[in-house]
Amino acid sequence: MAKVVVYAVIATAFLFFFVVLAPFLRDDHRKGPGLNRRFGYNIQDRTLSFDPLLAQMQRSNTNNTTSASTRSGVIETYQFLIASGKLNTTLRLTILFPLLDRDPKDYSISFNELEAWIIRQSMDRLDYSTHVALDSKDKNADSSVSFREYFPQFSDTDLAKKGMEHGEAGWWQVRFDAADIDHNGLLNFTELRDFLHPEDSENEATLKWLLRDRFKQMDYDDDGKLNFKEFQDHVYASYVSYVEFETAGKEAPKPHDKFHELDVNHDK
Ligand SMILES: *[C@@H]1O[C@H](CO)[C@@H](O)[C@H](O)[C@H]1NC(C)=O
Ligand SMILES: *[C@@H]1O[C@H](CO)[C@@H](O)[C@H](O)[C@H]1NC(C)=O
Ligand SMILES: *[C@@H]1O[C@H](CO)[C@@H](O)[C@H](O)[C@H]1NC(C)=O
Ligand SMILES: *[C@@H]1O[C@H](CO)[C@@H](O)[C@H](O)[C@H]1NC(C)=O
Repeated sequence: MAKVVVYAVIATAFLFFFVVLAPFLRDDHRKGPGLNRRFGYNIQDRTLSFDPLLAQMQRSNTNNTTSASTRSGVIETYQFLIASGKLNTTLRLTILFPLLDRDPKDYSISFNELEAWIIRQSMDRLDYSTHVALDSKDKNADSSVSFREYFPQFSDTDLAKKGMEHGEAGWWQVRFDAADIDHNGLLNFTELRDFLHPEDSENEATLKWLLRDRFKQMDYDDDGKLNFKEFQDHVYASYVSYVEFETAGKEAPKPHDKFHELDVNHDK
């Protein structure tokens, strides 16, 4: 186990250079960071979730008011890492290792330590993106946002129409209301984070909203159930990705078998 973890860490560190730093140095950030904590599909997300230096780089790169000292701190660290002419991943891992090896401090990184570390980095990123959104939308500076503040683009007509298609005012309103735990019409920091990242929320109403919303997108004939064809066309592929992700490439059950297993009352 220990060996496997070390390889994973080293592999991540290499990706760190090739995938993440290279575009950073080209000053190319058309693609923003993906922010799903549970399941970063692309490698860039996974590397960003590993090394806080990358998150700092990205922040100071996108935030033009980052203080000069923060910026130069990031640059200094980076220059230190490339002092030998290319990125010294050993050196970077030497710096990060004691930060990961916490519980217990035994000079090896267990699965749990790596997991705790990645979750912490990812939560920091979710919090940061929520702060950015709150700062930019909270016009009256009450540390929370109303629906109107968040969506100034919707006209009274849009609001009255309550369109329920994905992205319309009514659709957003339902999502907003689900995140608004105390139903005061405002989202504070915690509620806004649930609103922005429903997959990573622990709010039951938000999770139910998410499930209903996903279900609706898959249930083409709108009968409130998924038949085998809907399952095969819209669910099975993500199921396979999850299985491969969580079992490191093990083969997933065939669509018919999985459907049969899930369809407990066998009404197809
Ligand atoms: C920073 O960026 C914002 C939005 O892109 C812009 O409005 C603002 O003028 C910029 N500030 C400075 C100091 O460059
Ligand atoms: C930008 O950086 C400044 C100074 O570090 C910080 O106060 C501000 O919240 C940041 N803004 C965003 C949008 O990240
Ligand atoms: C990288 O860093 C390690 C640890 O400090 C050092 O022993 C090694 O010589 C460095 N490699 C290069 C190519 O500078
Ligand atoms: C936001 O409001 C909810 C519901 O009242 C509360 O549980 C949560 O602690 C609040 N979060 C913050 C950051 O104030």
